[in-house]
Amino acid sequence: MTISIRQIHPAFAGEVSGIDITRPLGADDVAAIEAGMDRHAVLVFHDQPLTDDQQRAFTRNFGTLEQAPGGHVTKLHERRLPIDMQDASNLDQHQRPLARDDRRRMFNLGNQLWHSDSSYRAVPAKYSLLSGRIVVDKGGHTEFADMRAAYDALDDATRAEIEDLVCEHSLMFSRGVLGFDVTDGERAMFRPVRQSLVRTHPVTGRKSLFLSAHAGSIVGWPVPEGRAFLRELVEHATQPRFVYSHKWRQYDLVIWDNRQTMHRVTRFDESLVRDMRRTTVAGDAMTVSQAA
Ligand SMILES: [Fe+2]
Repeated sequence: MTISIRQIHPAFAGEVSGIDITRPLGADDVAAIEAGMDRHAVLVFHDQPLTDDQQRAFTRNFGTLEQAPGGHVTKLHERRLPIDMQDASNLDQHQRPLARDDRRRMFNLGNQLWHSDSSYRAVPAKYSLLSGRIVVDKGGHTEFADMRAAYDALDDATRAEIEDLVCEHSLMFSRGVLGFDVTDGERAMFRPVRQSLVRTHPVTGRKSLFLSAHAGSIVGWPVPEGRAFLRELVEHATQPRFVYSHKWRQYDLVIWDNRQTMHRVTRFDESLVRDMRRTTVAGDAMTVSQAA
């Protein structure tokens, strides 16, 4: 089998064919996918009916699995999936859609805001891999924004202004925007971390904007000024010309590079079952020192 990748948006995102990722991959295939990720930042694989173990095995080709503690309000005994998989479904541990006012569901609504996965961790994520086990017909799309193209389109003065800026990221900020109340225990768990606003990709050397709904301030700036500026940058970076919207088919597997993209899910009828399972490749470095 030979992998081929067809670009599906003018700026980025590729559709991969000629590979069965439910089976162990050879080194050439892994290298071809990594190269495709470096170039396209988002890759779509169709017709891949993965089991959880197969999804984990495929994910490990690209690094270490990120474990999920501290990233959610779901208690351990309420989890539907093991700790090394992130539940992007609308289901409880009994496979039933969460009630409208369930705290877990209200927390999950934060995924409708543009973000980069785990930007609230000191070492943010490399790739996310989302498997569509049961998808919905209407809505529930995953939209991606190319943060390299967004960076490239900034004017020189803005690029110079942001070059060395550092932001504070926390789940408190993204959930606070929605009016979600966190408990004192959650507040301690969601302590802000620092991330540089401009990132350089370790392989391609391309610069990108590291934005996320989790970013709630710019270090050294008055908070309202920082938030207003971050909002302006997000508006710039998510113009239609930088966005690919993925309409899910059952058994799609989509990989995105959190170092080069933001994403969000669109609304859907949550009385329906939407079973999406994510594995995450851990990053290997902080973007900036955490020392205050
Ligand atoms: Fe996400």
